[in-house]
Amino acid sequence: MKSKFIVFYLGIVALSQYSFAQNPLYIPPVLNGPNYDLTMQNGTTTFIDGHPSATMGFNGNVLGPTLMMQAGQDITINVLNSIGEESTVHWHGLHVSAENDGGPHSVIAANQTFSPAFTVLNKAATYWYHPHLHTNTDKQVSKGLQGMIIVKDAEEAALNLPRTYGIDDFPLIVQTKSIDPATGNIRYVSLDYSNSDGNKDDVKMVNATMNPYLNVPRQLVRFRLLNASDHRVFEFGLSTAGVYFNQIASDGGLLVAPYTINRLRLAPGERAEILIDFSIYAVGTNVQLMSFAAELPNGLWGATMSFPGGNSPGYSPNPLNGTNFSLLEFRVTAATANPITSYPSTLATVTRIPAGNATVNRYKFFSEGTSTNGSVLGDYTSQNTSPPYSSPYQENFVNERIKLNTTEIWELQSYDGQFHPFHLHDVGFFILDRKKGNNAAVPPMPGEQGLKDVVLINPGEVVRIITKFTDFTSDVPFVYHCHILPHEDTGMMHQFTVSDDIYVNTGYTGATQDGSVIYPYKTVRAALNAAQDGSTLIFVSSGDHVETPPDLLISKNIKMKLLNGAITVK
Ligand code: C2O
Ligand code: CU
Ligand code: CU
Repeated sequence: MKSKFIVFYLGIVALSQYSFAQNPLYIPPVLNGPNYDLTMQNGTTTFIDGHPSATMGFNGNVLGPTLMMQAGQDITINVLNSIGEESTVHWHGLHVSAENDGGPHSVIAANQTFSPAFTVLNKAATYWYHPHLHTNTDKQVSKGLQGMIIVKDAEEAALNLPRTYGIDDFPLIVQTKSIDPATGNIRYVSLDYSNSDGNKDDVKMVNATMNPYLNVPRQLVRFRLLNASDHRVFEFGLSTAGVYFNQIASDGGLLVAPYTINRLRLAPGERAEILIDFSIYAVGTNVQLMSFAAELPNGLWGATMSFPGGNSPGYSPNPLNGTNFSLLEFRVTAATANPITSYPSTLATVTRIPAGNATVNRYKFFSEGTSTNGSVLGDYTSQNTSPPYSSPYQENFVNERIKLNTTEIWELQSYDGQFHPFHLHDVGFFILDRKKGNNAAVPPMPGEQGLKDVVLINPGEVVRIITKFTDFTSDVPFVYHCHILPHEDTGMMHQFTVSDDIYVNTGYTGATQDGSVIYPYKTVRAALNAAQDGSTLIFVSSGDHVETPPDLLISKNIKMKLLNGAITVK
């Protein structure tokens, strides 16, 4: 099959291995529900003249179609894996059951089909999908397997916003890749950290298009920005000095009101929707979508230095690090027939969760490792600083068992002087505050006050997030991890299950010394009182549960499960 990406070869002396010719921005086609068919396949895409790269795509050579979904819709997705190796496909940001989530446990063998079916529960926003096979995520994502998901809902539809896909509403999947200039091979950081070639991500692209340009109508245009890079942070802005734009949505939904900015920072995995007003320019003007990487603080990948005091292997020299560069050229053309000319002053209802609602606190740290000890995600509470609580990902160890409908605060911290974009599966969250060193904690800026599913943890910073684990229970775990894909692949990932089980443990002392025991009740009586219809009582301790009258009369449908040995209840 012919590549969709045509790089025009100029018959002149090439000044660089990269093509300087500009190419029209590729706009992925749309698939509408309720049934979506995706085939993961191998293909070829030319990023570097004369050296086509082996790529992977959904229904094509690279990337995947944009999946349009309606909130409330019941959908089925059929994913056929034709890449000749195992994979998974995860619906990043969608609130679905662990069985449908496509995390590392839902392996799709070669030539097999994964068919998740679920109701779209999310609000209108921009989500995405990508493989999540443990140790292979960086490879499969870098080779091109990712696509966008656009959820629409009634609240968004009622607003006067641009929403005609490919006309005044555009997906922008922004990436850098490491590509061997001599062969076109896409390199990635594998388990072997000495493979610094994977760090040489000096090839930039939008929607897998090199040197892209986009004709934009001279009016208000909406862009859905996704940082799909495996490492790099982008500091988006426009080349025209003094020109602002509006952020209207974060990862999980519209903001309460447009937020006027001239810089937008997105870490890997994060999305934002923005409105740019091109009516201020004359037809024929070219405006660059930039990354002002020179403005990034050290310790964020893409800044002058990858650590505040030094560099990762392969980081330097990389012409993109610490320098401002264009990602996409906007070419202003005539307005459309009925343009959107102004934006609403208020957008959506955002119901943040008050900190006081939380009943559980967890403390997580992130630390990059080496090829021998792996990258670590850990708990920094006193009980849980040793393995397996603080360790690389272990697929058979469930780090936390979370009780359904619990509201929790997670405190997140970098322990290695670099940034880590934290991502949580299952539910979105709100950022409560950020705290650097001994400074006071500060609430997030308006652009981060909406629902999030990735948060950038800066070096030396403590970030607190709050969420409630609603709707889905299962023995299949959900994961949470750093969205720097080499960190995730080398183990900076843990997992949790959500259940409404009730644990009975006669020896319970009140301490959460073990991730497998949450809220245990010391007596059967207390557990039965707490149980709801359909609950499962799990007996942690074996032996006698001797309890005293008065009699307890219950009319609840309750299951009982024994964890260790036999029990007698008196
Ligand atoms: Cu975007 Cu766990 O993934
Ligand atoms: Cu995800
Ligand atoms: Cu990380």
